[in-house]
Amino acid sequence: MTAPDPEYLKHEQYKDSTRLQARARLHADYSRNPYSWFEWMFDLYHDLPENARILELGAGAGWLWLKNGRRIPGGWDITVSDFSAGMVAEQRNNLARIPRPFQFEEIDIQNIAFPDQTFDAVIANNMLYHVPDRPKAISEMRRVLKPGGTLFTATNGEHHLQEVHHLMARFGFQPNEYLGGFVSVKGYTLENATEQLRAAFNHVELHRYDDEILLTEAKPLVDYILSFPIELSPERLAALQTFLEAEISHTGQFPITKDMGVLIAR
Ligand SMILES: C[S@@+](CC[C@H](N)C(=O)[O-])C[C@H]1O[C@@H](n2cnc3c(N)ncnc32)[C@H](O)[C@@H]1O
Repeated sequence: MTAPDPEYLKHEQYKDSTRLQARARLHADYSRNPYSWFEWMFDLYHDLPENARILELGAGAGWLWLKNGRRIPGGWDITVSDFSAGMVAEQRNNLARIPRPFQFEEIDIQNIAFPDQTFDAVIANNMLYHVPDRPKAISEMRRVLKPGGTLFTATNGEHHLQEVHHLMARFGFQPNEYLGGFVSVKGYTLENATEQLRAAFNHVELHRYDDEILLTEAKPLVDYILSFPIELSPERLAALQTFLEAEISHTGQFPITKDMGVLIAR
């Protein structure tokens, strides 16, 4: 498994949300479930106290709060963060549209600059698979949670987008040839996360989101693939586009498995 490269992640892949948006569009524009992932995740926070102090780590462009802006309880005190300065700038910009205060911080999850027992809830969505010292990140989140506090962490399962990887294999690419350090996502999946969280939390439960992609055109899939650190000559890119267009047009609606969920740990 290729190790995640924090410098590449911070200064290239996530220097802003451009690449993340290409991947999000595949989900936002072609998913079957009309109740969105971000709304579904937000429903899981229903038990938090009225005046909860909440920390989100690796929050990217702040979409969780942007997409649920109208239903955030007024008493919550929310700190939104990321280790990429560009992402924190986008969070500030995006969440200026929501008429309530947010705090913003640049934080590496492996070293959280808050005192012990500060938060009622910590959120770390689709990011723990990027972290080199995951046991340290998990113990840091446990440390800043109050006794009885809750961790919410979203990730993908083993079968997530498996049809994309099958198509790429048929075209002649192995995952490490187009995913680079993203191959490390297998280090923190819906299948193996519970055991990792149990090192610091007594109780862990898994909630799966029910959805699937039904793709009607190749372009968003090409954009999705190009969001990874893949190197392609213009000829090879043209061949990949032709291959994917043929595969997708011949089915009409090409189904792609979504295997996503949230682990709740206390
Ligand atoms: C796939 S994005 C997910 C963004 C957001 N949580 C979401 O669900 O839309 C991963 C995010 O984690 C951040 N990240 C990666 N490693 C990190 C670390 N060690 N500490 C804090 N943030 C990190 C990246 O900068 C990126 O914004």
